Amino acid sequence: MTRIALLGAGLIGREHAELLASHPEVEIAAVCDPSPEAASLAERLSVPHRTDYLAMLDEIRPDGAIVALPNQLHAPAAIACIERGVACLIEKPIAESVGAAAQICAAAERYDVPVLVGHQRRHSPDIRAAKQAIESGALGRLVGVNGMTMFDKPTDYFNMEWRRKAGGGVLLINLIHDIDVLRYLVGEIESIRAFTSNAQRGFEVEDTASISIRFVNGALGTFLISDNAVSPWAWEYTSGQALYHPAQPGPSLFLAGSKAALSVSDLYLWRHANEGEHWQHPLVREYRGAPGLPTYLAQLNHFLAVIRREEQPLISARDGRATLAATLAVARAAREDRTVTLSEMLEEDGTEE
Ligand SMILES: NC(=O)c1ccc[n+]([C@@H]2O[C@H](COP(=O)([O-])OP(=O)(O)OC[C@H]3O[C@@H](n4cnc5c(N)ncnc54)[C@H](O)[C@@H]3O)[C@@H](O)[C@H]2O)c1
Repeated sequence: MTRIALLGAGLIGREHAELLASHPEVEIAAVCDPSPEAASLAERLSVPHRTDYLAMLDEIRPDGAIVALPNQLHAPAAIACIERGVACLIEKPIAESVGAAAQICAAAERYDVPVLVGHQRRHSPDIRAAKQAIESGALGRLVGVNGMTMFDKPTDYFNMEWRRKAGGGVLLINLIHDIDVLRYLVGEIESIRAFTSNAQRGFEVEDTASISIRFVNGALGTFLISDNAVSPWAWEYTSGQALYHPAQPGPSLFLAGSKAALSVSDLYLWRHANEGEHWQHPLVREYRGAPGLPTYLAQLNHFLAVIRREEQPLISARDGRATLAATLAVARAAREDRTVTLSEMLEEDGTEE
């Protein structure tokens, strides 16, 4: 049995708790969260409940820890785990700033303790199949990508004040997942331009953004996101893998290469039937999907292998930091109305909105 402690048992922490409790290779070492709800959860699951994560780590010495705390606590909690040799799965974003993320990277490398960042989409069957198709060379050289996350959050979602302020919007909450998938499938981002708008809800924070991306490998990308639009074009629907959203099969991401195109999550590959054909010839369509475990279970299985040092983290601390930096680059590019490079964001240790 692998003994895992859960730090933070709020909205996502409770989902982790249920998954840990039902996994045959896991023992929940402790649920650590001072809230009364966390105490009841621990009681229901018949596992130890603690309120102070430092004392818990020293007393219980788990094999691994899931950090599902508010963003500002990711770095101090993760570093506390790392210093004690405890592998951790840190929920996204890896930290509240690129600088805090850098501290996690430095600690992980100094103590040689693996850190996995909770960008769960990389474990999803559709993203895995897309990655496989790209790596097989079926698409040829990637030319461009076009994606969308267009959904409608309910009005009362914004009752919490932080969600109406800079940093609480669709970029850091949602786009960060799309940016991570784009980096995973297409390659590292070189630079970004963007427009943001708050015209729909009128809050200080953005509700909609359009993004233009240049990748290091020369591919170009565009992405459109809004939390106030009705559409079926969002990974949350198309993948059928999200926790709180209905499955609505279809495409939300379109990749085009020199040999073929691929839509995700429906995983249709479009190509010419014969060598030498071009835009005046019809395309043939192949299904490239493959069955896989549900995303969160696949993530947990991978984390167990990471704890046992059998696998390298699919999303390392450095990877999580780059995904955060690229997401913050979108906000900066829109705010300053200019092209922002990823290297510029990574060189800085400051806190961005
Ligand atoms: N991967 C995803 O798709 C996804 C989805 C939701 C949330 N998240 C991330 O998970 C993290 C938690 O989000 P949430 O929505 O569950 O938040 P939440 O506010 O519902 O839960 C946070 C919990 O942390 C507890 N807490 C606060 N300070 C603590 C401390 N010092 N020690 C122990 N516990 C403490 C709180 O009591 C609360 O129960 C955030 O970083 C968020 O971005 C990721």
